Amino acid sequence: MEKTLVLLKPEIVKRGLMGKLISIYEEKGLTVEEMKLILPTRELLEEHYAEHKEKPFFESLVEYMSSGKVCAMEIQGEGAIQIVRTLNGKTNPLEADAGSIRGRFALSKSVNAVHSSDCPESAERELNLWF
Ligand code: CMP
Repeated sequence: MEKTLVLLKPEIVKRGLMGKLISIYEEKGLTVEEMKLILPTRELLEEHYAEHKEKPFFESLVEYMSSGKVCAMEIQGEGAIQIVRTLNGKTNPLEADAGSIRGRFALSKSVNAVHSSDCPESAERELNLWF
């Protein structure tokens, strides 16, 4: 069984779409093992997004992610990391499949509905950070 971190970003919590997104993962057979609503600190986000520190969008990303509560989840299932990434769709909603979570719900490249771990090493690191 594989585990991955999923973050439902602030606009999803504010728009009341948490349940809808959680259902999409559950309908696919994945299970929510841990879940919490958290207003992330700058320190947590800087650590979480450390690989993007030098990117031009880093500041606005941290600012946006700390603008409201985030729903953090540990999601489990066989092949959970890849399944969640496929369900999420591409980072840029303009390129994401229309039926994917980002295709359906993301507003822009940065206000893009969800985050999930991209490999087993990231999943372990990110789950330790958030839980
Ligand atoms: P996420 O999966 O949370 O991981 C890194 C985040 O950086 C990504 O989703 C986007 O929200 C954001 N991001 C990536 N590329 C860009 C970009 N070119 N402009 C703005 N935000 C970006």
